[in-house]
Amino acid sequence: MKPLGLHEIRSAFLDYFEHNEHLALPSFSLVPKGDKSLLLIGAGMAPMKKFFTGEAEPPAHRVCTSQKCIRTGDIENVGKTDRHATFFEMLGNFSFGDYFKHEAIHWAWEFLTGVLEIDPNRLWATVYLDDDEAFTIWNEEIGLPKERIVRLGKDDNFWELAVGPSGPCSEIYFDRGEEHGCGDPDCKPGCDCDRYIEVWNLVFTQFDKDEEGEYHPLANPNIDTGMGLERIASVLQDANNIFEIDAINAILQDICRMANYEYGTDKKKDESVRVITDHIRAITFMISDSIVPSNEGRGYVERRLTRRAAKHGRNLGIEGAFLYKLCESVIDSWKVQYKELDDNREVIARVILREEERFLKTLETGMSLLDEEIEKLKAAGENELAGAEAFKLYDTYGFPEDLTEEILSDAGLALDEAGFEKEMEAQKERAREARDDSDNIGWSSMSSYELNDVDETIEFVGYDTTEVKGAKLLHIIAGGEEVDQLGAGEKGVFYITPTPFYGESGGQIGDTGTITGDGFTIQVEDTQKTKSGHTYSIGTVAEGIVSTGAVDASVDKRRREKIRRNHSVTHLLHKALKDQLGDHVNQAGSYVGPNFMRFDFTHYEAVSHEDLRAVEKAVNEAIFQSLPVKTEVLSYEEAKEKGAVGLFEDKYGDNVRVVSMGDYSMELCGGTHVDNTAQIGLFKILSESGISAGVRRMETVTGPAVYELLNRSMGMNKKIAGLLKATDDVIVDKLVQHLDKEKGLEKELTKLHADMAKSKMAEEVGDKEAIAGIDVIRGHFTDVSVEDLRNMAESLRDKEGALIILSTVSGDKVNFVCASPKSLIEKGFKAGDIVREVAKIAGGGGGGRPDMATAGAKDVSKVQEAMDRVKDIVNAIGK
Ligand code: SER
Repeated sequence: MKPLGLHEIRSAFLDYFEHNEHLALPSFSLVPKGDKSLLLIGAGMAPMKKFFTGEAEPPAHRVCTSQKCIRTGDIENVGKTDRHATFFEMLGNFSFGDYFKHEAIHWAWEFLTGVLEIDPNRLWATVYLDDDEAFTIWNEEIGLPKERIVRLGKDDNFWELAVGPSGPCSEIYFDRGEEHGCGDPDCKPGCDCDRYIEVWNLVFTQFDKDEEGEYHPLANPNIDTGMGLERIASVLQDANNIFEIDAINAILQDICRMANYEYGTDKKKDESVRVITDHIRAITFMISDSIVPSNEGRGYVERRLTRRAAKHGRNLGIEGAFLYKLCESVIDSWKVQYKELDDNREVIARVILREEERFLKTLETGMSLLDEEIEKLKAAGENELAGAEAFKLYDTYGFPEDLTEEILSDAGLALDEAGFEKEMEAQKERAREARDDSDNIGWSSMSSYELNDVDETIEFVGYDTTEVKGAKLLHIIAGGEEVDQLGAGEKGVFYITPTPFYGESGGQIGDTGTITGDGFTIQVEDTQKTKSGHTYSIGTVAEGIVSTGAVDASVDKRRREKIRRNHSVTHLLHKALKDQLGDHVNQAGSYVGPNFMRFDFTHYEAVSHEDLRAVEKAVNEAIFQSLPVKTEVLSYEEAKEKGAVGLFEDKYGDNVRVVSMGDYSMELCGGTHVDNTAQIGLFKILSESGISAGVRRMETVTGPAVYELLNRSMGMNKKIAGLLKATDDVIVDKLVQHLDKEKGLEKELTKLHADMAKSKMAEEVGDKEAIAGIDVIRGHFTDVSVEDLRNMAESLRDKEGALIILSTVSGDKVNFVCASPKSLIEKGFKAGDIVREVAKIAGGGGGGRPDMATAGAKDVSKVQEAMDRVKDIVNAIGK
């Protein structure tokens, strides 16, 4: 066994697989990209899911990595045991539709026994229950004796995430020796004791699991292997746990030096040292991947880890902030593989220090309050802190619930968790109620982000430009509160000034684009305005850590151009409608987006086809005339005097912005417009409809969208022409011919149908019978539609002037039809009554008009009886 160091093992692994034609990729970020099912990367394959499913093309079909991973499921146990950790590195080799089981097993074996020189006699393998192929490879090709190959079930030997690639696996175990075992003669891999430790998991990825938990076979089987770097290091270094591994132990010793403490001399303190050793690695790596502490998601995980580590620092008697110094040890050691640590050295220290300081302040207040509560509880002989008290600490002082719980547990007390939950729910409810739903925020959950009271003036410069260099990012809001920084992948609200982004208003939707600053980029997804008119942008941090200060802002220009065309055309349309339909037409609302425009206006009836054409033509004329678009700021009176049209309920200040297009249109408007109507290109009305009494709605498109429409409809014409085998100019004639032909055929078919029914009728309908002094005709059919049966009954009734009762059986259904002529209805023989009585006998029901009625029933065996009893029914009425 080669006693290699942690960093040496990693290099040996990557070198070995590079030598076997794998592409060694740098570790992916801890922040999953485009994968909402994960908060943090926790396995080597997780960032490569798309390569497994075939959704994306991998850079090579053989890849190897050393992936930074965080798993927080066991966070409470970290420190308590010497096995648990949140941060670890996973070594992995991957095949995307390239090699499969044979190579994966052979290489794993060669690396362990050949490169790392592990004694083959101490290795075991497990395979999935019925995976004979893997069993044979291990046994016959590798030569592993049968006794050292264990078959295990789905719990152990099937690997999967919540969704995505998954499959059966084969695991390699290292036997640490009898002295670590439980003594059971049957002890082998799969046993709970410490003797056999799993070092490598070879997953034969052949399924894609969907959100419903269904497994879909993948087109190409893949290989995903994962070996915990710390695990294999502990084997090679004969370490009893991860804290004894060279590089990790160095961090542990640094902490002990800071605390002036000798590891192993105090159980409680050892626990604190372990917590810090683990957490500082996680925190340092997270920040280098642009995650910063916050109250949500990944940011919250980081906050929790930092605060937990800081608290344990206090347990060790370390005064003040210290983690921001300790991260240097992690960076210095791990930078050999992870360059991003060194690149972000200062940022990492700064982010940690800020969070530590913030926490120390919280801790001071919270601890003294909590101490008081603990004293009170102890004095009263109680052992549980009320949920409301813990909630107050959390809500008012920012003291985390888990910390309260931990401190209480240190003091031998518990927390009323249900009570805490209840308070939390009640607060959420209050927040929901307090939210004003009427505000104009296009992003439902964003109302809480709204910051109405920014003191600064936000200057909008987007009329003249779509780019601003050297703007200032004033405020960042995330998770409902103002924060001073925001990490990669997080969503937030950003106030910048001057801003080129148009905040949604007057029907025009908000701009999108990017905001970039020192090392960060924000993808702006929407822009809105607060009630007091301050523009803010909503977006996601695409990379880096955002903090306030100098930024450049850039609006998605192409999208803005489309919006401008659609906005300017609302003015032309407004005017054309007034000209064509009358002055009563007024704009009643609009939606102006990049792909289409919706215009609501007051008008009392549907707009005729001719009027629509005239309006569309007038708007296009105004476009073709290339009218210059001018904007000016005038006093309200002046604007009115000049004849500007004011939009519906807008409230105007003293000065108003007036947009005019040549002499054609003049409107009050705050939106962004083209410089000349020619830029609109072309205009087309897609639809016109009523939306409420006196309000109509049009949907329209401009410029490129009209071009696309034209392409689509010409394409469709071509297709139709092709199907009709006609040229464009005669398709209508051709179609008319086809329709005429179809009509003729339909007629013929109906006639045929009727003829067939008639001939059937001739066979099945009985003769006229005299019952109760009237004429009755009965008939029974098989597989005749109710429709046909009715037609028959009607024509018989009219021809013969008799009471008609017909029945038909189709499969397990029975139908009855009864028709009665006027003369007999007058005598009381009503079709509805009769058919109901008849159907009842066959277990059914129905009814209808006195001259014609139908009924259905289920009991096919009773049809004959029902038809026989018609006699009795008619007789009963005739009495
Ligand atoms: N995905 C498997 C694991 O995480 C192998 O890489 O264990």
